Amino acid sequence: MAETTTERETWSSSTGFILAAVGSAVGLGNIWRFPGVAYESGGGAFLIPYLIALLTAGIPILFLDYAIGHRYRAAAPLAYRRMAKPAEALGWFQIALSFVIAVYYAAVIAWSLSYFVFAFDLRWGDDPAGFFVGEYLRTGDPEVSTTIVSAVAIPLVLVWVAVLAIIALGVTKGVQRVNVIFIPLLVVAFAGLVIRAVTLPGAMDGLNALFTPDWGALTDPGVWIAAYSQIFFSLSIAFGIMVTYASYQRRKANMTSSGLVVAFANSSFEILAGIGVFATLGFFAHQQATTVDELEGLTGPILSFVTFPAVISEMPGGTIFGAVFFAALVLAGFTSIISILLGVAASVQEKFGLGQKASAIAVCVVCAIISIALFSTTSGLIALDTVDQWANNVGIVLSAIVMTVLVVWVFRKVPVLRAHLNRVSTFKVGRSWWVLIGVLAPLLLTYMLFERVQTLVTEGYEGYPGWYLNLFGWGTIAFVVVAAAILTAIPWRGRDSEDFHPWPELEEEQR
Ligand code: PFF
Repeated sequence: MAETTTERETWSSSTGFILAAVGSAVGLGNIWRFPGVAYESGGGAFLIPYLIALLTAGIPILFLDYAIGHRYRAAAPLAYRRMAKPAEALGWFQIALSFVIAVYYAAVIAWSLSYFVFAFDLRWGDDPAGFFVGEYLRTGDPEVSTTIVSAVAIPLVLVWVAVLAIIALGVTKGVQRVNVIFIPLLVVAFAGLVIRAVTLPGAMDGLNALFTPDWGALTDPGVWIAAYSQIFFSLSIAFGIMVTYASYQRRKANMTSSGLVVAFANSSFEILAGIGVFATLGFFAHQQATTVDELEGLTGPILSFVTFPAVISEMPGGTIFGAVFFAALVLAGFTSIISILLGVAASVQEKFGLGQKASAIAVCVVCAIISIALFSTTSGLIALDTVDQWANNVGIVLSAIVMTVLVVWVFRKVPVLRAHLNRVSTFKVGRSWWVLIGVLAPLLLTYMLFERVQTLVTEGYEGYPGWYLNLFGWGTIAFVVVAAAILTAIPWRGRDSEDFHPWPELEEEQR
């Protein structure tokens, strides 16, 4: 029998959907990833590949995710299966990759939660680097450690309990409600931080350091890879997560216009975070009578958990600034991780015909155990860095290539998806959409993937031993592929893709 809309929970309004989608997009990626990546990859000149990546791949693939989720009304594996049976495997590939992201992303939220508490008495003292790596994380060598660090494990358990509670409450009562409260809070908190930051002495030098373009960087393929990876991670696209979110959108919903709002809000937040972070670093350099270029530790976890604490200690009113900064990280991270878990739980629920609560519990408990076992140990930081590198530079690029090639060339679904988007939306997608997702994106991404794989194979990563990279780096990709194959092979137990005709009106029009 054809599915009817009443059976699927929906966001209670377009605003609910937009807030949730912005909540997914705006996350740790905007605050701890973007400023450092931009600074390392040409500063002001990075904005060019960044904007090109947003326009040529970010927004077009966001529209593709939305079209698939909204048209086929299911989480990624079933949505792809309804589109074309063999495509289910791609859905599981994306969901397995999301699962990998979730298990380490939770650890960074747990660190932020600890640092929120530490900010009140500036617990890191005079040596924030020694405190973070040594005293707090108790980081050892790249090894497979089984020594659990309780200072990390305890907040990590709290994060997972909170995630489980929200996912078990479902789309409207859980996820939407959290976003409706957290996103406005986050915007206010972050606006306060940025205003404070730009009024600090030396702030302008920090902004000059971020925005002064190094045009030479544009000829470096690594800079372009960084821009595209940042866009994918930041917009949460090609992970199957936006497919799932769109599937809960009402049938009459303006999809492309919402997409533009989400993409614009995410990039604005990202650039605002860059401004806030670099203004603060300008102040720090000013205090040390040096320049921002001379400062160290401007990327990744070190930026937020070592350099920022050092600045907070020097700042008048640093305690409040610090507490708000780490609270903002927690809020931003939490609204993103629940999007991932909703995607994974909904996929499992549909495939195995489970109840919503049962799938939420099963998925969150498995994630929590893996997350604690891998990332709250003394090798957690190194494992996290390695898994992040492979998931975001290899896994997600591969996912986007396979997705665009399958949808456009193998199953030839662009006409039907484009008609779908245009039927429900005011912002119409033209033929250029086909060119972008069918030609430009796959070609560019394939080139970038080869470049990156070659670099990782020949140069390794961060000087970590080869066996370690094989286990945590390439092992991550192997895990995702094997998980996708196994989950696809398991017979479908829930409601199947057969007889799915949710849009008779549209089919009628196309005849
Ligand atoms: N977009 C989030 C961020 O910028 O931190 C991270 C993220 C969320 C990635 C959801 C992937 C995903 F499916």
